[in-house]
Amino acid sequence: MNILRTKKIDDLISSAERKGLKKTLGASDMVMLGVGCIIGTGIFVLTGVAAAKYAGPGIMLSFVLSGLACAFAALAYAELASMVPVAGSAYTYSYAALGEIIAWIVGWNLILEYSVGSSAVAAGWSGYMVGLLKSAGIELPKAYTAVPADGGIVNLPAMLIALFLSVLLVRGTKESATLNKILVFIKLAAVFIFLVLAGPKVNPANWTPFMPYGFSGVAGGAAIIFFAYIGFDAVATAAEECRNPNRDLPIGIIGSLVVCTILYIAVAAVLTGVVPYTELNNAEPVAYALRAIGYNLGSALVGTGAIAGITTVLLVLMYGQTRVFFAMSRDGLIPAGICKVHPKYGTPHVITILAGVAVALIAGFTPIGIIAELTNIGTLFAFVVAAIGVFVLRKTRPDLHRPFRCPAVSIVAPLAVLSCGYLMYNLPGETWLRFFIWSAIGFAVYFLYSYRNSELNKQKTAN
Ligand code: ALA
Repeated sequence: MNILRTKKIDDLISSAERKGLKKTLGASDMVMLGVGCIIGTGIFVLTGVAAAKYAGPGIMLSFVLSGLACAFAALAYAELASMVPVAGSAYTYSYAALGEIIAWIVGWNLILEYSVGSSAVAAGWSGYMVGLLKSAGIELPKAYTAVPADGGIVNLPAMLIALFLSVLLVRGTKESATLNKILVFIKLAAVFIFLVLAGPKVNPANWTPFMPYGFSGVAGGAAIIFFAYIGFDAVATAAEECRNPNRDLPIGIIGSLVVCTILYIAVAAVLTGVVPYTELNNAEPVAYALRAIGYNLGSALVGTGAIAGITTVLLVLMYGQTRVFFAMSRDGLIPAGICKVHPKYGTPHVITILAGVAVALIAGFTPIGIIAELTNIGTLFAFVVAAIGVFVLRKTRPDLHRPFRCPAVSIVAPLAVLSCGYLMYNLPGETWLRFFIWSAIGFAVYFLYSYRNSELNKQKTAN
């Protein structure tokens, strides 16, 4: 058996060149793109959850730890993205660098990043929508707005938004750059309104104890709020549309990470400063904190901005999932039938709906913390493999053209592996168990189906 067969990188590059996307994006567009894909449920919901359960006010430090890991991973990732600018991101890169079975398991884990991640984002959306309706005097029954573990029956709003967006995706709705800019603006406005209203009400007494669960709590918090940074890889995948990738790509990636890290630390500081961290484990902590200090209108405004922002992130993640599946089915690793393109809309409708239903079911019945942790472990794993891939390709194919070269690769790539590995290590044992079970199912599918049906297998048989 040849489970480490690789795809020819030159074929991938030439197919990308044929596709020839227009090079229109500059550095500031890349920063906007990043911020658009990044800020969502993580900051608006998980900051509160992670502060209450793990880090306390020390959640501010957790953001620094997590942001650093992302910066290393992003630089390494960007080299691969600029070199092999085709659909499928880390999955495609690993296929060329490390071999089929590794690519498969990366693709399988990207399902966690995109689909399970979408479920967590949908759950965050639901929290803010239910809160906003409540402020407007419409109280939905808890039974239909909370998962069983939180005392409800089903989180219906989370299911409905996931299904609604899959229908939009089938009809080919793509976010335009202008719409993205407007939504990013609304989202940033929500963050600033919160900071301006709540900032002056901070009571420093709420910051003590700063690390109620010690440094291990801060590290545990970092592993959870890594979720808030997911999406920065989208900047890397836009490498091909960049006017000057060598300059604009690192500015875009590092710039959006810096902007988000500063905002996240500020929000975390104010949030844990205005109410005791123990009260923050709820579905809409930012809006809750504003209500707690008497700003009902401000809370509704911020809630509306959060809903707009979270919706764009959800759309990007759900779109990303269909494209990874698409790349995997083109390579024969999953059945081509489920990635059929709709005759009228030109979108992969079967897989879009299937993924939408899966996202809805997970969001409807699973607590947000559990799904966010599972998303993180899968995504971190994919970044670790991608960072190793950069290294391997520098050794095996030094000749390839690299529009963007990771600076100080011999330091940055190992640091990416170590820091992402450290965040993985800090995730709870049950998350690891779920990750192993998910990976075991992945291997079973590979050996029972994908190995035989792979396009590379067919090519070999034909020769
Ligand atoms: N970073 C994205 C969010 O926080 C996934 O919603």
